[in-house]
Amino acid sequence: MTDAIEISRSGAAQVLRIVRPEKKNALTQAMYRALADAIETGEADGSVAVHVLFGQPGIFSAGNDIGDFLAQAGGAGALPRDVVRFIELLPAVSKPLVAGADGLAVGVGATLLLHCDLVYVTPRTVLSTPFLDLGLVPEAGSSLLLPRRVGHVRAFEMLVLGEPFEAERAREAGLVNRIVAPEDLEAVVLATADRLAQKPPSALATARRLLRGESAETMARMREESELFRSCLVSLEAREAFQAFLEKRKPDFAKFRGSGTI
Ligand code: COA
Repeated sequence: MTDAIEISRSGAAQVLRIVRPEKKNALTQAMYRALADAIETGEADGSVAVHVLFGQPGIFSAGNDIGDFLAQAGGAGALPRDVVRFIELLPAVSKPLVAGADGLAVGVGATLLLHCDLVYVTPRTVLSTPFLDLGLVPEAGSSLLLPRRVGHVRAFEMLVLGEPFEAERAREAGLVNRIVAPEDLEAVVLATADRLAQKPPSALATARRLLRGESAETMARMREESELFRSCLVSLEAREAFQAFLEKRKPDFAKFRGSGTI
């Protein structure tokens, strides 16, 4: 266990668990670093066949830590190195990614699922990407991957309108494989990871690469998104949204109307 990321093994699966329930599993920079380190280690370890990702019962992840966003909004620099490192690893990994998401998956907690090869959820899972409401733009390649997966209008509904997708809708849209009872989630995910681990490794890696397509295109879109995300992050609108969340109040965007200043 390090930095609210618990790393364990289940046979040939490396299991990563986000463990920050008191903050709804929001991801801090240290947690991105721990996740990226573990994925890199697992990629290099011949005894690891599959990466598995879980949150906590009832909460997968509330996305990026908003306090961290606010701190970054105060600086003019680039996005934190470990955040970029983690995000850019997602399309680059060669071993399958399998996720079990029980409860809310917000922001990057939802968009990272687009990089997973198998996704299992529960009836209480909701995928939510409220980037616009925070004065931000879609990230982690979602502006490219989501419309491809579900079509423009549903991607727009989710990424721009900020409409949450509940488990059944996410399944119908092709975002998740199966909805299972919360108490069965872990067993279903680990049994599936084990089935993958039994496959011939190079055929598995090749099949996965063929199905996922060229990662360079996703990477290029991620870099474009990151640049735009960074400029949104330092805007007054975004700062107001972050402050409002932390102060548990509604944001007041009206004061920016007509000012032309972001
Ligand atoms: N960053 C930092 N802290 C967060 C957080 C986040 N993304 N999400 C939740 N928390 C914290 C809350 O501030 C609260 O802390 P406190 O107990 O010290 O006040 C604690 O986690 C519990 O959250 P709370 O909002 O009280 O729980 P809830 O069940 O009412 O709502 C959410 C859960 C996830 C719906 C709500 O917390 C939320 O909307 N979080 C922000 C999600 C988000 O916009 N993420 C960024 C996407 S780009």
